[in-house]
Amino acid sequence: MFTDSADLLMAAIESSNNGVTIADAGQADLPLIYVNTAFTRITGYDAPEVLGRNCRFLHADKRQQPGLDVVRQAIAEGTSCHAVLRNFRKDGTPFWNELYMSPVRDASGAVTHFIGVQNDVTRRVEAEERERALREKLEQQNERLRELNETKNQFLGMAVHDLRNPLASIVLSAGTIARGTVGEVNEDQQEVLEWITDSANSMLRLVNDLLDVSTIESGKLDLQKEPVDLSDFLQHAVALHRSRAAEKGIELDLALPEGEPVETSVDPQRFRQVVDNLVSNAIKFCEAGARVDVSLGVENDSAVIAVADTGPGIPEQEIEGLFQPFARTSTTPTGGEQSTGLGLVICRKVVEAHGGEISVTSQVGQGTTFTVTLPLAGPAA
Ligand SMILES: Cc1cc2nc3c(=O)[nH]c(=O)nc-3n(C[C@H](O)[C@H](O)[C@H](O)COP(=O)(O)O)c2cc1C
Repeated sequence: MFTDSADLLMAAIESSNNGVTIADAGQADLPLIYVNTAFTRITGYDAPEVLGRNCRFLHADKRQQPGLDVVRQAIAEGTSCHAVLRNFRKDGTPFWNELYMSPVRDASGAVTHFIGVQNDVTRRVEAEERERALREKLEQQNERLRELNETKNQFLGMAVHDLRNPLASIVLSAGTIARGTVGEVNEDQQEVLEWITDSANSMLRLVNDLLDVSTIESGKLDLQKEPVDLSDFLQHAVALHRSRAAEKGIELDLALPEGEPVETSVDPQRFRQVVDNLVSNAIKFCEAGARVDVSLGVENDSAVIAVADTGPGIPEQEIEGLFQPFARTSTTPTGGEQSTGLGLVICRKVVEAHGGEISVTSQVGQGTTFTVTLPLAGPAA
């Protein structure tokens, strides 16, 4: 038991894990008049070696540190401070010392002493430094990746742009020859001309999709939004796919809500791409006898467009990659149709650029449903 509170205080300070130091402000150059055991453990200096000295012996040659300026100012002004200082132990090894220093005042308010509380925070500071270095490196790498991506998009944009015109000329020229405009064409030659046209057309589709992706990725997708009644819009969009569906023996249906028009604000050309892609995809992967049901509804504040087919379905493990560029599924087109592997990427980006979402559910052997939600036009739209 402690009978004297001064004894208790001393025992408590000696038991502390933090270094505790007291400097005499009444003497020149603030000599230490007390250091506890933890100070000795942290610095390697015994009390008799340091009492009567200013604590600056811990600096070695590191006399210019931002933390020290804070300490100097606090001493000059007689205020408290907190600083993390580069200090050196008796054996010369460096460590980071977190110092809390405060003035001790007598009854008249005069500063008679300063008390310092020290803590070795080397591990923490080094971890922070490592983290900062890592973050900087990551940031640099991200910046580099952004630059590379930008270059890739520019390059892609330029390359595909320059490919478009020659390809269109090939399609046009092959058509001109096939029509016999430049001389008679026999059956074999017609067949070859068809291959040329088909190949050039599928390249043209790829080039156009690539151009779209590069435009979207470089953030240059400029939506020309206007008020659109989705019922009208879908009627027109779906109508264009009826002949292809009929050709393949697929029933294509459109279910529209009755009553109020479903008004949204969309870029008709871009949004048309989304609907065309989803409906033509559904037709592409369905066998004769299947159904493709396009429907429009309203849920909360969104228009909901669903394109549901009774086709082969997409295996679960392939769903996640569906909206990634060049994702290929194990299901194949049933009528020899081609795909660029970019259609769904474009769909997703266009829908998201409209503030909407696209999702898919599928069951192998049952069919697939793509659902697009779009915000309804507000009163101001
Ligand atoms: C009570 C007290 C404890 C101090 N403890 C430390 C310390 O642990 N580490 C340190 O670098 N400086 C410490 N200092 C600061 C230095 O002793 C010194 O006062 C400061 O660096 C200003 O002097 P300078 O201008 O010669 O650098 C302490 C100062 C006081 C008053």
